Amino acid sequence: MNSKCQCVELNDGHFMPVLGFGTYAPEEVPKSMATDATKLAIDAGFRHIDSAYIYQNEEEVGLAIRSKIADGTVKREDIFYTSKLWSTFHRPELVQSCLERSLKKLQLDYVDLYLIHYPVSMKPGENSFPTDEHGKVIPDAVDLCATWEAMEKCKDAGLAKSIGVSNFNRRQLEMILNKPGLKYKPVCNQVECHLYLNQSKLLDFCKSKDIVLVAYSVLGSHREKKWVDQNSPVVLDDPVLGAMAKKYKQTPALISLRYQLQRGVVALVKSFSEKRIKENIQVFKFQLTSEDMKVLDGLNKNIRYLTLDSTAGHINYPFSDAY
Ligand SMILES: NC(=O)c1ccc[n+]([C@@H]2O[C@H](COP(=O)([O-])OP(=O)(O)OC[C@H]3O[C@@H](n4cnc5c(N)ncnc54)[C@H](OP(=O)(O)O)[C@@H]3O)[C@@H](O)[C@H]2O)c1
Repeated sequence: MNSKCQCVELNDGHFMPVLGFGTYAPEEVPKSMATDATKLAIDAGFRHIDSAYIYQNEEEVGLAIRSKIADGTVKREDIFYTSKLWSTFHRPELVQSCLERSLKKLQLDYVDLYLIHYPVSMKPGENSFPTDEHGKVIPDAVDLCATWEAMEKCKDAGLAKSIGVSNFNRRQLEMILNKPGLKYKPVCNQVECHLYLNQSKLLDFCKSKDIVLVAYSVLGSHREKKWVDQNSPVVLDDPVLGAMAKKYKQTPALISLRYQLQRGVVALVKSFSEKRIKENIQVFKFQLTSEDMKVLDGLNKNIRYLTLDSTAGHINYPFSDAY
């Protein structure tokens, strides 16, 4: 199955494959693994690839994409590649330079989608996590509407086919949507979304505005100690999910992914294992009944895994896409 034929039309007329390959891996994972995994993902049929300036892997991911173009597996236009503007580049005059840095690493001419990564601005400079003497992030006072106008210019310059946001709540989305002189609406809002945080209100709001909700941490995240409370329940171990996986003769991961696709959410999934990459693309091969979708809706517990302030102290701001 090739995820390319399973696409959603964005509000600017471009198409986004509904299953995306996540490339973020914890710091200790060698960056070269992103190259191998991205190649495997393209070979398996993934056409949507998600990365970001801050993942520091765009050289490796770009290498994989270009090598799959060079060997004839795909053409550039078959790939939907997302990058994200980091928070130290929110000042309008810095926005395009962050995208250009990504493109240089990728050795690509454009990205398919460029997102404002977080609605939190940080002090500009080479330090991606500027902190004060108490370990608190040093914020920057930037009007995100001005950042958005600079994002619009990146689209007009052809450096990004589509533009959107990530980790925005309803109020922040409305701020952009109600901006006087808005030229382009965000095509999507990429947020944490899984069975324990199903974002149903934010999803309804996004749908009402023709904004696609893109889900990350659909399998409950990488559970990296630095970012995730190790005492939080593991979504893939949920007994109801486990029973449903047995019933459909699928894995809990596949049921979790399928759930998102059937409710109109684009799902990202990261794996650097060949076996699980091949498993995850099987999501198109079965369907959940509407009764089972309701059962899965009932598992929501409003548990957010990525709070960024679990043990850290050094990065001390909450994710803000809570409805
Ligand atoms: N916009 C944002 O702020 C933001 C934040 C977080 C993530 N993201 C994006 O979303 C992507 C996905 O999110 P995520 O990395 O947090 O987590 P995720 O996709 O929910 O989970 C990844 C974890 O699940 C494992 N896994 C993958 N397939 C599996 C399967 N079939 N069965 C069991 N385990 C499986 C992976 O391990 P193996 O690699 O060993 O298979 C990895 O530990 C990221 O890579 C990134 O591109 C965006």
